[in-house]
Amino acid sequence: MAIRKIRIYGDEVLRKKAKVIKKFDKQLNKLVNDMFETMYSASGIGLASPQIGLLKRLIIIDTYEEGEKFAFANPKITWKSDESNVMKEGCLSIPGVEGEVRRSERIKIKANDPYTGEEVEKELSGLPARVFQHELDHLNGVLFIDHLTNDERMQLSRKLEELTAA
Ligand code: CO
Repeated sequence: MAIRKIRIYGDEVLRKKAKVIKKFDKQLNKLVNDMFETMYSASGIGLASPQIGLLKRLIIIDTYEEGEKFAFANPKITWKSDESNVMKEGCLSIPGVEGEVRRSERIKIKANDPYTGEEVEKELSGLPARVFQHELDHLNGVLFIDHLTNDERMQLSRKLEELTAA
């Protein structure tokens, strides 16, 4: 396993749309393992492949509760609850920046198990549901700061400029 370099805000790969995964092979297994190692080394609870510079529809989640560790290829949301909640979020690609984002409380999802290619369906709620929505956004070039109001983003603009310049 290897720790991959996490791409930081300003890197254009974070704004691109990731491609559907069709081949489930050893190389993909290794990539998933590398993503877990990279996420743990950065103390994250989720990671999407564009964050390590790869435009594949692949996300991982570990909220450090039993049964809350997931790796999903080609993730999709098939249902969202009407109930939503607001929580402070951060992102390994936008260090030092936090903002409150409203997301659905519960979701139903479909994906492929990246180790086998098998289709999986699940219902997620609470923190894993939130992380799933955050990571799925990454596959479409969307960052959590895009969900903030203009005022909130203005307040973060200096920090964001510093990240872009670094
Ligand atoms: Co993120």
